[in-house]
Amino acid sequence: MQRCRELALVSEERDRLTRPYATPAMARANELVGSWMREAGLAVRTDVAGNLVGHLPGAERDAGTLLVGSHLDTVRDAGAFDGPLGVLAAVECVALLHERGAALPFAIDVLGFSDEEGLRFSTAYLGSRAVAGTFGPELLDVRDAGGVTVREALREFGGDPEAIASASRAGDRIVGYLEVHMEQGRELERAGLPVGVVSGISGASRAEARFSGVPGHAGTMAMADRQDALCAAAEWVLEVEHLARERPGLLATVGRLAAYPGAPNVVPGEVSATLDVRHVRDEDRLDAVGVLHARAEEIAAGRGLRLTWHTRPDNPSVAVDPRLTGALERAIAGRGLMPRRLPSGAGHDGVALSALTGIAMLFVRCRAGVSHHPDERVEPDDADLAVEVLADAVCSLAA
Ligand code: GLV
Ligand code: MN
Ligand code: MN
Repeated sequence: MQRCRELALVSEERDRLTRPYATPAMARANELVGSWMREAGLAVRTDVAGNLVGHLPGAERDAGTLLVGSHLDTVRDAGAFDGPLGVLAAVECVALLHERGAALPFAIDVLGFSDEEGLRFSTAYLGSRAVAGTFGPELLDVRDAGGVTVREALREFGGDPEAIASASRAGDRIVGYLEVHMEQGRELERAGLPVGVVSGISGASRAEARFSGVPGHAGTMAMADRQDALCAAAEWVLEVEHLARERPGLLATVGRLAAYPGAPNVVPGEVSATLDVRHVRDEDRLDAVGVLHARAEEIAAGRGLRLTWHTRPDNPSVAVDPRLTGALERAIAGRGLMPRRLPSGAGHDGVALSALTGIAMLFVRCRAGVSHHPDERVEPDDADLAVEVLADAVCSLAA
């Protein structure tokens, strides 16, 4: 828990935690977590996509590798636990296995993924996609708000964008992927349970809508002559909310709006708006994205503006692996607790990893469901139990 707090000080911004992909803050985080990994007896490297990897060899050559981890990037003004808890729980798990003198046949790779939130490039899972072997070359051309491409950012970071395929573990024998994560909801808290297992992960779509109109002087451009991009975007944002309120189970968010040129006395000529859409049913999610795209086109056309629509890679809902999930459930039951199953509305690195191997997740109770906020809180006893459960599950996979 202390390490989560210490890591939360490693930020791009002075007074709050913001750690985007391939930034100097992320390099410092990798260095710090890498030092803790070494202390736990792991051999540490950073892969070409910027992921931190701590390796513990197995006793048997052909037994493959178990992947355990979470992400080290954060949202803007983040809490200390979304992501780092899972990476540090994996490091503690290795230390605990060492203490127990457990000799595992398979190797363990503890992974600190470099991008799960997609803060910088609006594209989630850049790190985990590279490991899963699903990092398409087109992702290298995606630009951040300052116009820097993933390719340039990664090169600057010390990664190797041209060799991104070499981060893939697709040719390796992989036992599975396990992740500890704070719940980010209130189900465990309400049930009075410290941990639970994930039953499945909701699908998510992301897109960027760009409304292009005509900038002009706020004092001289007549209202009738305007093609105000921000007014069009505002109309669309309310449509997004309206649709999501109308359709059961649909969650839709415009989390970032940027108006250009961005001055109080200039009519906005261009606006970029991000869209995040979630639903447990993939058909419903895709249908909603289609409707919102069409509405954006209509609104733009109705105001004489142009719309450009960029979709990011789609993430379908993901099923968990029964064997790995069963191992977590038995480990929870072994501690005299009810192994409750609960769905995840949030996305996780396991979504990307599911293209590579079976995945399972252990959720840890958090306070009041608060997440993506500096007030995120996890109790030390709950985190402690999560590490024990994880270690028990890892040992049972070896049996
Ligand atoms: C990750 O936090 C997500 O956006 O679900
Ligand atoms: Mn998150
Ligand atoms: Mn997370």
